[in-house]
Amino acid sequence: MSHKLFSFSTIPLFFICCLPPLVSSFPSAGRFGFGTYDFYARSCPYLPMIVTNDVQTAIRNDNRMAASLLRLHFHDCFVNGCDASILLDDTDELEGEKNALPNRNSVRGYEVIDSIKADVEKACPSTVSCVDILALAAREAVVQSGGPFWPVQLGRRDGLTANKAAANSELPSPIEPLKNITAKFIAKGLDIKDVAVLSGAHTVGFAQCFTFKHRLFNYKGTGRPDPALDSSALPNLQSICPNQDSSNTNLSPLDTASVYRFDNGYYTNLMQSTGLLESDQALMGDSTTAALVRAYSMNPYLFSSDFAVSMAKMGNIGVLTGQDGEIRKVCRSVNN
Ligand code: HEM
Ligand SMILES: *[C@@H]1O[C@H](CO)[C@@H](O)[C@H](O)[C@H]1NC(C)=O
Repeated sequence: MSHKLFSFSTIPLFFICCLPPLVSSFPSAGRFGFGTYDFYARSCPYLPMIVTNDVQTAIRNDNRMAASLLRLHFHDCFVNGCDASILLDDTDELEGEKNALPNRNSVRGYEVIDSIKADVEKACPSTVSCVDILALAAREAVVQSGGPFWPVQLGRRDGLTANKAAANSELPSPIEPLKNITAKFIAKGLDIKDVAVLSGAHTVGFAQCFTFKHRLFNYKGTGRPDPALDSSALPNLQSICPNQDSSNTNLSPLDTASVYRFDNGYYTNLMQSTGLLESDQALMGDSTTAALVRAYSMNPYLFSSDFAVSMAKMGNIGVLTGQDGEIRKVCRSVNN
């Protein structure tokens, strides 16, 4: 009797969990495809649960951590591909990426990945790569902030090297033109739409004053603020970032309206010329990206679904598979 109940109740669950449409609506799966969504289903069945719980704990301890984990994944994937190279510490033999200009005193969340990895190692030793953990943690961070879910293909392997020079030259800068940023995305197999969509990640998290203060007082030697920044935003930003070096590391929300909420507020800000970074507001200066900004500001569901597609694409940049790379035991260093 109990045996029958068990088998009946599991059948419908099986069908619910394994219906294909969600996966097939992601066009990148075929083109970039490498692993499967259930790559660790047998070897580490509790992986998703561990990541979900640990990300939840991390965000509870520090609201900003969701944003930081998302950015950590981006900065990993744009340098040497998604290979957890950003997680490697400097050693005598290896110069890591953590001290590259875009990362140093800026990228956060390394300890959270360390602690998820430690929990995963306890459950399934030497099985799950650090880079897959990072990709899953970034997805969880977005979901738990109210943003979209996207299926993460698994089976990435951890790199054996890092590339500090590439971190300095291939990550986008907030003061370079949209053309240059787009070229950096194209070099990674992404496109100008991905620039507009993925910049929407700036709906969460913070920026230090030095990344945008040049807009507030004397923009390009004019003696006036950046005309692309609406004057209504000035008093608040000038008070957070007084015109002196001592304010350089003060923080402003990237999306003042809802800093911890993954919504489409970023695009509403751009429509009102209150985007924080010069590179954010620059999306309004190009007809292709401006049309996307307008669409996303009016339709949060369109933004959610496009963001999910672009994140899945970004998460598959230059991945190591098969026998390449390794499964690190500790995310901060390569195995002996
Ligand atoms: C398009 C070009 C981009 C530029 C120029 C850019 C630049 C920046 C800068 C300057 C900051 C502030 C860093 C600091 O003050 O320490 C920042 C923060 C952030 N970026 Fe981007 N970013 C870009 C794209 C992206 C993408 C594609 C993502 C993720 C998909 C992303 C996610 C984030 C997040 C979540 C934060 C806040 C992090 C935190 O609060 O810890 N950014 N970005
Ligand atoms: C943008 O890229 C061009 C080369 O395509 C380069 O000469 C220029 O210095 C770059 N601008 C910035 C601000 O990085």
